[in-house]
Amino acid sequence: LDVAAVVADVRRGMIPAHVYNDPEIFALERDRLFSRAWVFLAHESEIPEPGDYVVRRVLADSFIVARDEDGTVRAMFNMCLHRGMQVCRAEMGNASHFRCPYHAWTYRNDGRLVGLPFHVDAYGGEDGFAKEGQSLLPAPALDVHQGLIFISLDPDAPPLRDHLGDFAFYLDLYARQSPAGLELRGPQRWRIKANWKIGAENFAGDSYHTPHTHASVVDIGLFREPKANKRKEGALYTAGPGAGTTYKLPPGDLTTRLRHVGYPDEMITRMRGAWTRAQRGLVENDGFMISAATLFPNLSLVHNWPKIDDSGTVVPFISLRQWQPVSANETEVLSWFAVDAAAPEPFKRDSYKAYVMCFGSSGMFEQDDVENWVSITDVAAGTMARRLNLNSRMGLTSAGKPLKPPLAGFSGPGTAYQGFGEFNQRHWLSMWGDHLLRPPPVHTSADMGAAR
Ligand code: FES
Ligand code: FE
Repeated sequence: LDVAAVVADVRRGMIPAHVYNDPEIFALERDRLFSRAWVFLAHESEIPEPGDYVVRRVLADSFIVARDEDGTVRAMFNMCLHRGMQVCRAEMGNASHFRCPYHAWTYRNDGRLVGLPFHVDAYGGEDGFAKEGQSLLPAPALDVHQGLIFISLDPDAPPLRDHLGDFAFYLDLYARQSPAGLELRGPQRWRIKANWKIGAENFAGDSYHTPHTHASVVDIGLFREPKANKRKEGALYTAGPGAGTTYKLPPGDLTTRLRHVGYPDEMITRMRGAWTRAQRGLVENDGFMISAATLFPNLSLVHNWPKIDDSGTVVPFISLRQWQPVSANETEVLSWFAVDAAAPEPFKRDSYKAYVMCFGSSGMFEQDDVENWVSITDVAAGTMARRLNLNSRMGLTSAGKPLKPPLAGFSGPGTAYQGFGEFNQRHWLSMWGDHLLRPPPVHTSADMGAAR
């Protein structure tokens, strides 16, 4: 495999089709990308109390994400120091200690080893093997932004805030609609026979598929406006490690526009206070409302406002979703419902309904999308796929220049274009290429569990 040639093709907007189902590419992604990138694990609202935990993965690596007795959020490698058993077998819960199912070594919820069966007979007691200093391996780097917990497997990762850069502006339009921040529920989880990159790229900027792939959603009248028009007038932006799309709202001030989306006045008041002047400007002056986005590598967000009943009432929802790679041709999808924690209860209930209709495991959009992604992955494994470079040059002239200039006067950071284009997918793929060309980080192994 000539990685440099693959990346060079990708940079021309021509994507070697096999990258969507190739074990060699997958191995590079594991060793060079997921070994280094900041990866989302969980939200603080999922583990509000001391002892609360969830178990999440970065590819094959399982982590216990727990709030310890002091309230500190920790991510601990879920592998016993003794013989390697997964210490925590539940997906979520509350525990003061984790006891290994194999031989019962026992750890506190901050990772410290506190119990060794037959300590004296088997190890000579504290003199032979002191428990002090032994703990489950912590994630090499952990950082939190607006309650979103990320880890990196690279101890030398830059601070999360530096990594997020300009994308934080867009992320916070979802993640901070009031000082209370988000509340996440779920996740629903399921596996699809599709390569993980396809979903990540799709959510980054594929507004082109919506009128056709999701035509039935429009036909049954789930939305007030014709989707195609909303998309054509919306913006495509790239900023820092993220990229996303917006809708264009009908004219009006901030309140009118957010009412149009279905937000109640009390939430609008809180958004007005929580958002910066520039964030308000994006909605109020430019009329752009955040739609879908992907934060590199594999966290996506979506915001939409379907009709939830026959009366035509529209209610907005936010969903976070993660494309968790299992193999070159399989992805675990984690889909969370997210809502402003300060929202009134009836809004939360209706918003959840809106989410389930669109993007739960049985959601209408979900079904439409996955059919495409499985089909791409299936045919990308073959011999012919190695002879085809896919065209991802939408929005460019044959000379590689943008067909039209970036949107002037756009309130958000980064670069934005209006209408259709694959600027965002190319942005995502160029970061992917950067990672594939870098040698993997050097790791040293820890002697946890060694007698001293
Ligand atoms: Fe965990 Fe032996 S593997 S106690
Ligand atoms: Fe879609």
